[in-house]
Amino acid sequence: MERYSDVLFAHDADGERARLALMAEALDPHTEQRIRALRPKPGGRFLELGAGLGTVARWLARTYPSAQVVATDVSTAFLSECREPNLLVLRHDLTTDGFRAASFDLIHLRWVLSNLSDGARHLRRIASWLAPGGVLLVEEASDFALASTRHEAYRRTATACLAAARRRFGADGAWTRTFPEPLVAAGLRDCGSDGNWPGFTGGEPWPTFWRVSFQRVLPDALAAGDITEPEATAGLAALADPRVHDLGITTVAAWGRAATAH
Ligand SMILES: C[S@@+](CC[C@H](N)C(=O)[O-])C[C@H]1O[C@@H](n2cnc3c(N)ncnc32)[C@H](O)[C@@H]1O
Repeated sequence: MERYSDVLFAHDADGERARLALMAEALDPHTEQRIRALRPKPGGRFLELGAGLGTVARWLARTYPSAQVVATDVSTAFLSECREPNLLVLRHDLTTDGFRAASFDLIHLRWVLSNLSDGARHLRRIASWLAPGGVLLVEEASDFALASTRHEAYRRTATACLAAARRRFGADGAWTRTFPEPLVAAGLRDCGSDGNWPGFTGGEPWPTFWRVSFQRVLPDALAAGDITEPEATAGLAALADPRVHDLGITTVAAWGRAATAH
């Protein structure tokens, strides 16, 4: 199965750094707030899976200087630029590579599992890497706010492009809407969930992230007959239009804690 950064969103593609930077700009403040609220163990071992540009991993390393942070990705092109002394970068495919059980006090991943097939199975393996009392925070994409938008061209374009991307990756677009149930099923305690679907005005970083992402996958969506060229042109234009105000694609977050040893 094709992985997210194998072809469609390859890290060496033109504009990929800028595209991931738009995502980080929109999502990092929410992630930082959630991680602070979970009070990770001072001096602990932290793991950032599918770290992309590494903005969250670097924030963790700087904010918790006595922690040891490991940042992984299947492509470490961007992560190799990280210079924080307490940050280790590993090329690692979370679907096939592992860590020893009980290795980490905090594990975070964002917008990684929602681009993979069989998220529940990966989540169970990831949960096993938590040390007793360690905390897992998963933040993933969900498009349920799209169903109710009155911007028809945006809805049709986004729906067709998201479906085309998920076909490539074998991803199930409905799975993240079940959060936090998969964390409960993975044996974690004190599970909870929330979401954010930032309001946007066309042309801002978040709709720009989506516009450039949809442009990459549009040939697939057109070939599948899920959308016509004029509809897609109108949908992409809406994301750049400062007169358009709407709710963005949602991030659904879930967290849980490994049982403490007795
Ligand atoms: C949408 S980007 C998100 C990047 C980063 N987590 C963020 O939120 O800014 C998805 C990232 O997951 C990585 N990825 C995809 N499949 C992976 C896998 N099986 N194991 C580890 N990383 C993976 C990609 O290379 C890419 O950097």
